[in-house]
Amino acid sequence: MKINILSGALGAEIIGLNLDSVNQNNIQALNNLLLEHKVIFFRDQNIDSEKLIYLGSMFGLIEEHAYVKGLDNFPQITRIIKAPDEKNQWGEGWHSDVSYDITPSKIVILKSVKIPPIGGDTVFANMELAWETLDEEIKNIVKDKKALHSSNGSSFFVENYAQMESNGNIGERYSNEHPIVRTHPETGNKILYVNCTYTKKIIGLSDEEGAVLLEKIFRHQERLDLSCRFKWTENAIAILDNRSIQHYAIADFYPNRGLGHERIMDRIAIVGDQPF
Ligand code: SIN
Repeated sequence: MKINILSGALGAEIIGLNLDSVNQNNIQALNNLLLEHKVIFFRDQNIDSEKLIYLGSMFGLIEEHAYVKGLDNFPQITRIIKAPDEKNQWGEGWHSDVSYDITPSKIVILKSVKIPPIGGDTVFANMELAWETLDEEIKNIVKDKKALHSSNGSSFFVENYAQMESNGNIGERYSNEHPIVRTHPETGNKILYVNCTYTKKIIGLSDEEGAVLLEKIFRHQERLDLSCRFKWTENAIAILDNRSIQHYAIADFYPNRGLGHERIMDRIAIVGDQPF
């Protein structure tokens, strides 16, 4: 097995490991790689839907997506489809998946099914490093505060995609407060846990004061030195520690973003803990 580190911040491509062979006896080694690198990538994986679900089940209970309908035969799999002429890409903008949930997913697994010939990379950012490098004054203000995360506005992610359907749960249904600095339940590390897609306000500050502070934090989280970028090939798999990173799917199939290309990813997620 060879480990190709993607950046100084996070991310590693694991070469020479067949995810088909993951089982109860070796899952701990894979989980250790994930904790170390926060997002790990594997190419040329011969994994069908059943095997994808089996792989996910090695990490814990698989959950269905909060508001997107899954595949008919495999409701745990969300098929993310950007149709050839669509201008939007699902997952565009920095986010931590379903952070509005009371127990946001701990791990997300993405498998590339169809990738445009150019573009469509995903960028990942290390939120432990974001906490470490945050301005001390801001750290002192937010270190014991909570923020409100909400799925309000998420209807965009089904209504604007020709081939993605809601499961009927869209709306204000998911709204929860989480610590701005959460503790990783496995490593004890501190994580800056707000994101510009779902975090709406800081509890205990006026809307105005909170918005100014959140904006500064969001800009900090975008720092390129906190990130790594993955260029997909078909049948690649990414395993993300959704507790300690954010990600951003780039819609750069220019001109006009559609450029006649389709992009399809299969996604599953593992039930997480309530952030503390
Ligand atoms: C997502 O945001 O979950 C999707 C990421 C991607 O399609 O690259």
